[in-house]
Amino acid sequence: MVAWAVSDHAVLKELLTDPRVSKDPRQHWPKFINGEITPEWPLFTWVAVNNMFTAYGGDHKRLRKLVSSAFTARRTAALRPRIERMAADLLDGLAAAPAGGVVDLREEYCYPIPIQVICELFGVADEAMREDLRRLVDSIFNTAASAEEAASTFQTMHSVLSDLVALKRETPGDDMTSVLITAREEDGSRLTEAELVDTLLLMISAGHETTVNLLDNAVHALLTHPDQLDLVRKGAASWSDVIEETLRVQAPVASLPLRYAVEDIEAAGVPIKKGDAILAAYAAAGRNPVSHGQDADVFDVTRVDKEHLAFGYGVHFCLGAPLARLEAEIALPALFERFPDLALAVPTEELTPVASFISNGHRSLPARLSGATATVG
Ligand code: HEM
Repeated sequence: MVAWAVSDHAVLKELLTDPRVSKDPRQHWPKFINGEITPEWPLFTWVAVNNMFTAYGGDHKRLRKLVSSAFTARRTAALRPRIERMAADLLDGLAAAPAGGVVDLREEYCYPIPIQVICELFGVADEAMREDLRRLVDSIFNTAASAEEAASTFQTMHSVLSDLVALKRETPGDDMTSVLITAREEDGSRLTEAELVDTLLLMISAGHETTVNLLDNAVHALLTHPDQLDLVRKGAASWSDVIEETLRVQAPVASLPLRYAVEDIEAAGVPIKKGDAILAAYAAAGRNPVSHGQDADVFDVTRVDKEHLAFGYGVHFCLGAPLARLEAEIALPALFERFPDLALAVPTEELTPVASFISNGHRSLPARLSGATATVG
């Protein structure tokens, strides 16, 4: 499969707002329309789902509107006390571990918060279902998956989410899954059954791995740049500076499949033919020296211009950006306040990236938790 990877910040920004660039393979990708793209392709789920992520024009507006009201800045802010409690409970658990012990912070701290938040928002209460979803989302992000694994992930994901829909049809709750079911039942033209299931797939998977990577990358950046952590501790930089700089220098979604040229277009003088596939290379754009200067790859929380495209740009701009930022604004200071002497337990060269060109994080983040301060709250 060949696609144009767009890594220049300014060019990418232009393409992301160009109506001649679509994310809908059903209308604009000849290879998909011809049946060349099958469930055995590791990226099949990324392109074949039926939701706002792969919709164009009016369909995109319709599908996005159904969920966007749940993700306004005001609604998101209301989740603050709940997220603070989750972080505090997890830190209590970590503090109870034997003194000087090593924990995998990605697994024990970065993972649980985003997963719990998204599962609560969508009413996934059952522990076994949460585990299934986590395993399946991991597999969707694994761009090295075998053909069998890719096909089985696609099928199993749909069957687990159809079970969730059936459960919520029977016993509705105060959650987003029930809200979407009601929208579909009131007026079938607002949301088809396939779109309902695939919207759940999008929300649940987007809410899992991305924010985990943001937390993982921010913790790693601070532990490997103690001078930058000091600036935050002294009040010379804010946690928001840490979050935005992490998003710029380590975009949690490194590259995003796929977009398609609706007609022949030109990007920075390069001709892209109608029907060609385009990959948004967000991580590369964040370090592009033309836009971010010669020190673009340096983690510098005092950098004046931290503009990044880590949440995308244009009509598909991330719906969960306020939620992801809120989770990080709570989770990061809470961790560093509770464990002031937190340190990586292995040299950074020994950390391995997750097996994906989409997801940008570490497989594990072993850290030493010496010197917990007293519990607050
Ligand atoms: C640090 C965390 C996150 C990052 C880096 C991130 C990144 C992105 C990016 C790059 C896109 C644009 C995709 C494109 O190129 O078209 C996107 C879209 C989206 N994100 Fe996020 N995301 C994060 C967290 C979340 C969360 C927590 C949720 C929801 C709970 C979420 C929901 C969505 C949805 C629904 C879209 C599709 C919007 C559309 O197509 O109109 N994201 N995200």
